[in-house]
Amino acid sequence: MLRVYNGVKWIKIIFCSALCATIALCVYHNWVHARGIDMPENSVLKVHRNSKRLREDMTFNNDLPDHVAQNSVSGKQFESDIKSLEEARNKIKELELRIKQLEGVSVRRFPDVKFLNYRTRKRILITGGAGFVGSHLVDQLMMEGHEVIVVDNFFTGRKRNVEHWIGHENFELIHHDIVNPLFIEVDEIYHLASPASPQHYMFNPVKTIKTNTVGTINMLGLAKRVGARVLIASTSEVYGDPEVHPQPETYWGHVNPIGPRACYDEGKRVSESLSYAYAKQEKVQVRVARIFNTYGPRMHMNDGRVVSNFILQALRNEDITIYGHGDQTRSFQYVSDLVEGLVSLMASNYSQPVNLGNPVEYGIKDFAKKIRDLVGGRSKLAFSDAVEDDPQRRRPDISVALKQLKWQPKVTLQQGLKKTIDYFHKELLRSSHSNRNMFQPEISLGNTFYNEKQLNVQADG
Ligand SMILES: NC(=O)c1ccc[n+]([C@@H]2O[C@H](COP(=O)([O-])OP(=O)(O)OC[C@H]3O[C@@H](n4cnc5c(N)ncnc54)[C@H](O)[C@@H]3O)[C@@H](O)[C@H]2O)c1
Repeated sequence: MLRVYNGVKWIKIIFCSALCATIALCVYHNWVHARGIDMPENSVLKVHRNSKRLREDMTFNNDLPDHVAQNSVSGKQFESDIKSLEEARNKIKELELRIKQLEGVSVRRFPDVKFLNYRTRKRILITGGAGFVGSHLVDQLMMEGHEVIVVDNFFTGRKRNVEHWIGHENFELIHHDIVNPLFIEVDEIYHLASPASPQHYMFNPVKTIKTNTVGTINMLGLAKRVGARVLIASTSEVYGDPEVHPQPETYWGHVNPIGPRACYDEGKRVSESLSYAYAKQEKVQVRVARIFNTYGPRMHMNDGRVVSNFILQALRNEDITIYGHGDQTRSFQYVSDLVEGLVSLMASNYSQPVNLGNPVEYGIKDFAKKIRDLVGGRSKLAFSDAVEDDPQRRRPDISVALKQLKWQPKVTLQQGLKKTIDYFHKELLRSSHSNRNMFQPEISLGNTFYNEKQLNVQADG
């Protein structure tokens, strides 16, 4: 009996313990479950995924525990970051569009110039570089890869003559009158600044003398200071109305010192004297080119000289005016030949004056007929009074250039005149500034002539 009673007692104890354990487990489970639901509902991750929900959550920030409130603050930061990112993206898009627009407006390409390194590249100053001869010299030296600085007061020169180089890293254009001193660092100076046609140099004779005397002193002084070699552009006019024919460099000339051309002729003679005085006294390296009649594209349409006068009159079908009887002679060199001669002279060791011109001589009357035939017009020859002090014969003796520089002209009168007539023809047709870049540099590299297409030059788009 006693054993039965003990068994029932133990069963009761076990049952009660199991019940208590089950209740405890349930309570514990409920507690854990309650915490588990609470956290994901307020998690920052959820808040970040949905900014609308975030704003709602943040409205109740004050009621939330500290750690949840902190997460919401970083969410606010995140939202403002996104906003700044969007703004930056829009700005970049705007700028990309603007760059594309600018590229479309001003695609500027330059002729493909040679690259010279710092040891072989020179800094070269060209006074009067915006003029007829100067601008062709600019083309040649730029194509060779040098740094070219043009100084010009634009009395007879034009920006248009060099505008195809403006913006190139090797090119600089300075508006300056060389009668005033110039401080600049250069290796070589081509001193070409001076009006060249009688009409231009007689316009202001005193200024012509100043340019060729004071201006030359300034350039020689600069050459002395920086140790540069200087080439002076002298002229066949130093021979005046010559009594010796053809004219060698040893001929001292026949010049009227008080005539209408004296400002130029005597100005150039002083320019030469100054050069050799600086060479002797200050050890400046000088080169002197005595340039004879030169023609070609970019020459002045209204310079009053035979080439431009005859071409214009022929193109307009007007009478071709010959001053005097027309038996006076001239020799004409094409501009690219002259440029080659100038560059060779600068590079040579020969420091005495050198004639640069074309020795083929033409009577003015025959020359007028040749131009009329090339133009193909119906112009007649008209004779007028001879001009005072007009030289009767002009022809260079170029044996020094041939011997010292191995130089002689290559371009025939027929070839040169065709190019020049073509240039004048285009200039006459030009009716607006939009045609500005139609004329591209024509330069000679050795014996080869390059034109616009070969150089792949493109004008402003
Ligand atoms: N073209 C020829 O047939 C010829 C013949 C003999 C000599 N030259 C000489 O060659 C040089 C160039 O002649 P071009 O035919 O090219 O003449 P150009 O008139 O076309 O060029 C002369 C340049 O010098 C500039 N200039 C004039 N005075 C100046 C000053 N005080 N300061 C700064 N710049 C000034 C002009 O604005 C112009 O750009 C001149 O020295 C000229 O005497 C030319």
